[in-house]
Amino acid sequence: MLSPDARRKIESLKSEYETHQSALIPALHLAQEDQGWLSEETQREVAAILGITPQSVRQVVTFYTMFHQKPVGRHLIQVCRNLSCSLLGGHRLQRQIEERLGIGEGETTKDGRFTLVSVECLGSCGTAPVLMVNDRYHENVTPQEVDHLLEELK
Ligand code: FES
Repeated sequence: MLSPDARRKIESLKSEYETHQSALIPALHLAQEDQGWLSEETQREVAAILGITPQSVRQVVTFYTMFHQKPVGRHLIQVCRNLSCSLLGGHRLQRQIEERLGIGEGETTKDGRFTLVSVECLGSCGTAPVLMVNDRYHENVTPQEVDHLLEELK
């Protein structure tokens, strides 16, 4: 269940946006910040607060990779899978991370420390290959930097 604070913040978004539907993305960010991910229950709560259908919430949650539909680890690693990054070794970096952590794409390590996902363009194609760990960008990433980064985060 959403915390009272998150409910209050989502409620207050309704007066900031022209339509309740347009408050949905910021509301989902608040809900995710509160819960760590967006369960079906949380999605229904957001829908109820905004007075929109659960289906319209679901459509947005399933469209954007920034919204998590299952619990994620303490460190969320997002590897860009689009063209520039792929051409410059993004897939290789992803395979390296999978091997080091013993998990596949979309999975979380047993200790709950890492989740690995591949995502669409992270908007920094000029510094490919790019990955994000939590909210931080890592650009022009080399295999050596991946090893160093994973070691640091352990
Ligand atoms: S293609 Fe990877 S950041 Fe755009």
